[in-house]
Amino acid sequence: MGVVHIRMAANRRTFTDVQGTVLSAHKESTTEDKMSFYDSWSELYEQDVMILDYRAPVLAAESLAAVIHENRDKVLVLDVACGTGLVAKQLQRFGFHNFHGVDGSEGMLELARCKSIYQTLQKCMLDSELLPASSDSYDAVVIVGALSGGQVPPAILPELHRVTKTGGFVCMTTRNNTSNRLYKKQLQAVIEEMEQNRLWERVTVQEIEHWEKATTEAEQGSTYISGIIYLYRKLRSYD
Ligand SMILES: C[S@@+](CC[C@H](N)C(=O)[O-])C[C@H]1O[C@@H](n2cnc3c(N)ncnc32)[C@H](O)[C@@H]1O
Repeated sequence: MGVVHIRMAANRRTFTDVQGTVLSAHKESTTEDKMSFYDSWSELYEQDVMILDYRAPVLAAESLAAVIHENRDKVLVLDVACGTGLVAKQLQRFGFHNFHGVDGSEGMLELARCKSIYQTLQKCMLDSELLPASSDSYDAVVIVGALSGGQVPPAILPELHRVTKTGGFVCMTTRNNTSNRLYKKQLQAVIEEMEQNRLWERVTVQEIEHWEKATTEAEQGSTYISGIIYLYRKLRSYD
């Protein structure tokens, strides 16, 4: 009975419910609090992001598929902050099949495990730990929906670059809404510094107008917030 009750409640989720959940996340101050938030949101996460028309996973998958045409079944992808596995699910549609995933929330990882599409899934705190991978391991590294204030800091970028093979791709997304402007500026500063040092080169930077529905009062006039997909190719390792 209890399970049925929860399912029925989940089916009735409205935009206002989701808005309340997302706004409550902004109040979490420490990373531990944020991970507890994701643990508790994990069961409803996919349903809720559908209500928000969260398009980042499909857009990131399309952007990677646009540059990797051949042997997609052999390409090894690291999905950083994989959550419940939405990005790998979208990449599968394009013929990618080899995925490793990392995330800091055990609840989100458990949902990703249920999809049986990742070869490995590991818990990793992305603001304090190194990625659990050797240098030059992956053909592509993706991080979607996690590069924003209070989540994964821009300092992760050299780690994303380290575990990518030379010639491989790093696909990163961030939101372009008012509350994320400062973070985005800091993120872009790191991206550009690495570009100037010829550690990677820009492949595409796409601004997407309809990223997801706005949830804060200040942004709701615009209905959707915009977002950005940065796609870079690794040129060399750090000296
Ligand atoms: C909005 S979800 C995005 C999940 C998935 N990439 C997607 O697009 O559906 C953000 C994910 O980042 C993870 N995350 C956020 N900050 C983190 C941190 N500092 N360390 C580890 N994981 C973190 C959360 O646990 C959550 O699963």
